[in-house]
Amino acid sequence: MDEKRLDEIISRYDYPSGRILGILRDIQVSEGYIEKDLLRLLAEKIEVPVSRLYGLVTFYSFFSLQPVGRHIITLCMGTPCHVKGARTILATLEDLLGIKGEEESGKYFATTADNQFTVVIARCFGACSMSPVIQIDGNLYGYVTPEKIPEILAGYGWHP
Ligand code: FES
Repeated sequence: MDEKRLDEIISRYDYPSGRILGILRDIQVSEGYIEKDLLRLLAEKIEVPVSRLYGLVTFYSFFSLQPVGRHIITLCMGTPCHVKGARTILATLEDLLGIKGEEESGKYFATTADNQFTVVIARCFGACSMSPVIQIDGNLYGYVTPEKIPEILAGYGWHP
């Protein structure tokens, strides 16, 4: 997002520093994510500490600091799923989608170059009896094996 567009969003609000969530929401909706540099620029313009903006963006799951793909694949990494091979499922997803995310403090985030898929990890969907489990755009898939993944992804427009 360029500065002009950011100014346009800020100008929608009479009292911008009191409407931070509204501004952040508008940026998120417009761009699909909120760039860190843009967060700094916004902080300067509305005269609030960037740490406050950062805190809000990381607190609310609606916001993302990185581009999010059209389809969100959430892989369960809870203990039962982990024991039943969630790591292999993640490696298969990375291989098929050509992504390599970094896992940090139990978080993982990677988006394909064409912005079609974002892979994240979660801890337990409450469907441990079907482990390992993945969720795509809210649809749950249990007893997932590496062999089943291409067919599942094909349902979302993926092809080799
Ligand atoms: S640990 Fe994966 S669904 Fe519970």
